[in-house]
Parts: sequence; structure tokens; C-alpha cells
Amino acid sequence: EKGGFDSFMLKEIAEQPQAVADTLRGRVGENGEIVLDEVRMSDQDFRDIDKVFIVACGTSYHAGLVTKYAIEHWTRIPCEVELASEFRYRDPVLDRSTMVIAISQSGETMDTLMALRHAKDQKARVLSISNTVGSTIPRESHAVLYTRAGLEVAVASTKAFLTQLAACYLVGLHLAQVRGIKYADEVASVLRELVATPEKIDSLLEKMEEVRDLARQFSACQRVLFIGRHVGYPVALEGALKLKELAYMHAEGFAAGELKHGPISLIDDGTPVVAIVPSPRGRSLLHDKIVSNIQEVKARGATVIAICEEGDHIAATHADHVIFTPQSPTLLAPLLTAVPMQVFACELASALGHDIDQPRNLAKSVTVE
Ligand code: F6R
Repeated sequence: EKGGFDSFMLKEIAEQPQAVADTLRGRVGENGEIVLDEVRMSDQDFRDIDKVFIVACGTSYHAGLVTKYAIEHWTRIPCEVELASEFRYRDPVLDRSTMVIAISQSGETMDTLMALRHAKDQKARVLSISNTVGSTIPRESHAVLYTRAGLEVAVASTKAFLTQLAACYLVGLHLAQVRGIKYADEVASVLRELVATPEKIDSLLEKMEEVRDLARQFSACQRVLFIGRHVGYPVALEGALKLKELAYMHAEGFAAGELKHGPISLIDDGTPVVAIVPSPRGRSLLHDKIVSNIQEVKARGATVIAICEEGDHIAATHADHVIFTPQSPTLLAPLLTAVPMQVFACELASALGHDIDQPRNLAKSVTVE
């Protein structure tokens, strides 16, 4: 049932173009309007919202972090993201005009469920994004948007993550459309790009042999650091989480600008640093900044693996190894840049002889707080 793959995780990585396409299917109308029928919230409900909180754990939390950048940029509604396990203990400010988005693949994560119940007690509107039809979190939410990743067997989340991103982008674009915002042109073009993403993921997957070769070269390392800016920062966190859970290796993700405030001390000769480089076409300032971060870590002896957009020769010349990803609008790039992170962790863990699908100490669904 692994369909010829060595692990369920590799199989699920390969299923990502289909999973994302399935999640978008039927939800983008002919004139580019977003159809979210199964979300039982009216346009007026969406217009009344003046604040968004996203609550989730682990990989789902990283999908939430990406969503914050998208929602705030497209809608101008303030959006905060919080680890579900921290949310209710700090007495967050919520009311009827707050929308809480709970993201959970399993729909059963106790921390997320408790955060959702707290939000409902405070009269907030709860929209959940889940991969499991009829699970507790969607059942207790006011509205649900299901991801269509299919069954995810490997403990480490891959295709569920990409479909969470796709669903979250739909929610963000829907919010932008119903509220009629100033970025209307951008929203229409992003939507076209979103629909084109599964094909790009497909072409990216064809190059994953390169990533596997590269990953094996780093299996004897003590640690791997990941750096990113903007939406590349949550991707860095996700790359590090994957490596921790699968390879049992010390890995950390940093906002690249934070390096100089402490973590740069970790770098010595040969320390691998994976840099998630934003497109040089869109937000070029961000691109310049990360290129200087690459130079900073190189100067301290780091070995840099750059994940950059096809055609980005500037970042490529500064790095020791380069993995090119297809061109995409900056906000959608995580749908692509996350993929080599998954393959890298999976292959590195295999090289160390670990059980890819069942890492030690972890369970697929965490039903205790
Ligand atoms: C990491 C992973 C976990 C889950 C987290 C939340 O690969 O799978 O970090 O993302 O336990 O699970 P859900 O999304 O089911 O609430």
C-alpha cells in the first residue's frame, strides 16, 4: 500500500500536487470568485469581523503563521497566530467580531479543541480547517472548510500541511473579496496563481533526487539551522520541526534578521544553514536582506543550502548548494519551498536508519493536553 515508495511519508510527499488540487477543486468559481458553500458563514458575517486569531499546534501552527501574512496583506484585518496550548491561559481579548480559525489535520488535537472552546465561550466565531470529516474540532465549530489531503498515515505531516495552506489562502482571499479591499487586482491574480500551483509542485517533485543526494551529505552533522524572512520564516520553522521529529537532530528555524541578536554564535566551520530565499522579483528588499544574511553566515564558516526561485542567480552565487523552486508570488511560495524541506528531513533520517513513518515518542493524533 506504499505504492512502491520506501515509506508512507515519501508517498504522501508525492501526492501533494493532487491533494492541493483536490482542496481547491470546486471552490474557485468561473469568474474568479471563491465559493465556500460548506462554510456556514454569510458574507455579512465575514464583513463584521475586525480581528482574526489563528490557533493550532506543530505543523498546523506553521500553516497558521503563513496565513497571518496573507490575511493581513490581502484584507488589512489584524491577525494573530497562537499556539493552541498557550491561547486560553493568557486570557486573550475576544468578542463577537473576532474570528478564530482553528487548524487541525486530525480534528482531535486536545490543545486546539480547548482553545476553540475558550473562543466560543468568549462569543468569537470559530472556523475550523480540518482534514477529518466529522471529527470533534469541525463538529464544535461554527463553520468548517475541509482540506482534501486524503488519509495521512505518516506521523510527520506533509500533504496535510500543503492543503492547509491552500485552504487558508482560500479563506484569506474570500475575506478580501467579500470585504472589497484595495488589492482587488492582486487578489484576482493570486487566485489564478494558486490554481496553477499543483502543476508547479509536480515539476518541483521531479527534482527531489537532488535534494535526497544533498541530505545524505549532512547526516553526520550535529545540527542544522534554517533561516527565512516573511513567509520563509514559518517554512524555516517547519523545516527544523521535520528534521527534529524524523532525524532526532538538533534543528532550529530563525527569522533571518534575528541571527545577529544571538543565534549566529551557533555557527562555526561547516554548520549547515538552509536559507529560504524569497523571490527577487516581488519584494526585492527582502531578497537583498537575506542575501546579506547568507553572506554573514558564510563569513562565519557556515555551509549554505539556498532554496531559491528559478532564475535567482544572485542568491545562488553566494550559496554552497542551491535548490531551485518554480516562480510564484511571494505569499504563495510556501506551497513550493516547504517541499524540499520535507524531502531533506525524510532522506536525512533514512540515512540515519530511523523509522520514517513512526518516529519515536510521537503519535499521529495528540488527544491529551
Ligand atoms: C508534525 C506534526 C504535528 C501536528 C500537530 C497538530 O509533522 O504532524 O506537529 O501538526 O500535532 O496536529 P493536528 O493538525 O492534527 O491538530
